Order: sequence, then C-alpha cells, then structure tokens
Amino acid sequence: MTAELSPIDKAKYAAARRSVDFVESGMKLGLGTGSTAAWMVRCLAERVKAEGLKVTCVATSKRTATLARDLGLSVVGMDDVKWLDLTIDGTDEFDPNLNLIKGGGAALLQEKIVATASDRMIVIADAAKEVAQLGAFPLPVEVIPFGWQTTKALIEETLYSLDVLNREVTLRLNRKRPLKTDEGHYILDLNLKRIGNPRQLALVLNQIPGVVENGLFIDICDVVVIGNGDGRVTVRDINSGRVEDAAVDMTLDANVFTDLGD
Ligand code: A5P
Repeated sequence: MTAELSPIDKAKYAAARRSVDFVESGMKLGLGTGSTAAWMVRCLAERVKAEGLKVTCVATSKRTATLARDLGLSVVGMDDVKWLDLTIDGTDEFDPNLNLIKGGGAALLQEKIVATASDRMIVIADAAKEVAQLGAFPLPVEVIPFGWQTTKALIEETLYSLDVLNREVTLRLNRKRPLKTDEGHYILDLNLKRIGNPRQLALVLNQIPGVVENGLFIDICDVVVIGNGDGRVTVRDINSGRVEDAAVDMTLDANVFTDLGD
C-alpha cells in the first residue's frame, strides 16, 4: 500500500504512525502543521475510527483544522480548552537537546502557543531533520506587517552581536507577494547557517519591536519519533533519557492511504 510513496514520505508516515500510539481516550490534543503532521492526523483519525477513542483536538493552522474536520475529528479552539495533554507536530530541524527550528510551513506562532500549553510535546521527523547544531534551515521569524522593513533592519543589526555564521534576512513570499500567516503577519527567514547559542538568540529576537515570535523551540519538545523509509522508528525521550527502537508495519492502514485527497 505504501509502494507509491517516496522514501521520505514513508519515513514521515512511519514516525507519524508510531506517534499516535501515545494518544489515549479522553485526551486533549494539539495537532501540528506540515506534511509529517498531516500523516499523523490521518493515522489519528484511523485510530479514533477503529477504536472509538474520544479525543478533543486543537489545530495549529487553518489547513490542519480543515484536514482534521474532514477526517471526522473533533476540533475546538485553543480558548475552549486552554491546556492540552499532548501535542504532536513536525519540525524542520532538531538537535541533540531536542531544541527545534520550526515554521517552514509558516505556522510557528500557533505551534508554539499550542506546544507550550501542553503537558507533553512529541515531535515526528524523518531522520534527515536531525542536526548536530541548529541553523542550516533558515530560521523563520513572524513579524507585524507595520514597519516590517524597520523590524528587519533591527534584526540584522542585532545579529552582529550574536554567534551565528551568516546574517541574511529575507521576506517570505507567496506568488511574489508577502506571505501572510493565519494571523495576518509576515515571515522573515534568517539564513544563519549555524546558531551557536539558540537559547540566547530566541530571547534576543523576541525583544525586538515588531517581532511576534521566532521559530526556535527551546526546552519545549519532550520526545522525538524519528522515522525511516523502511518502517524503522526510534523514540527518544529527553526527560527519561530512554531510547527505543521499533518497527511500524507499513502494509497496514489502507484507509490512511485511500483518504489521501491531495
Ligand atoms: C510548520 O510551520 C512547520 O513548523 C512544520 O512543522 C515543519 O516545517 C515540518 O514540516 P514537514 O513535516 O512538512 O517537513
């Protein structure tokens, strides 16, 4: 059933499939955004349907909310629940401390609010997302449209006092116009190549007027589930230090694949 998927999609599916084993009936769940998170939403919907689990979900983007509702999941607003048991989301990079760069899909603001307000955050990723040091993936920073060029200049100036390898800042575009996030903001991508001190950078960026939030997730992620194209997964828990290897049966879950509408 997975034969038509690319190795990277198989890896994302394997991580997503394993992550939904952590879901229990009665949980309030945060649903991430991106292609890996979309697999997770599909796997979750399958479990809910097959086992009759009762879960209440908060989505981190409009597109995740639409997908989850289309698959029959109950989606409410963040203010309806205020706090969550578990959030499962993808990432653009993760380091050995499970610090992350997120926001490649422009949903970092809601993702950070939801993950921070969760007892536990599980990140799902293919093995290529693991890095020794964050920064090869451009760091997304969400900014207010008003005076965004001033905000960009302030960020560039600030970067000179920080331990980064490169200092290129670009406005993210969508069809030649500034990309607008679900909250109506812009995204600046910081091409830094290497981030020497992610914690310091995250704090300093958020002091700049016009910056709403940055894509560095520091001390937020508890567990990473790393998937491989052959169905092998590794689950690493940063709090307990436990590492478990397992294998996902890639021939099951036919409905997950027939549900693919995109
Ligand atoms: C969305 O804004 C991002 O944080 C995504 O979670 C991240 O870009 C990972 O996306 P993929 O799963 O599509 O790689």
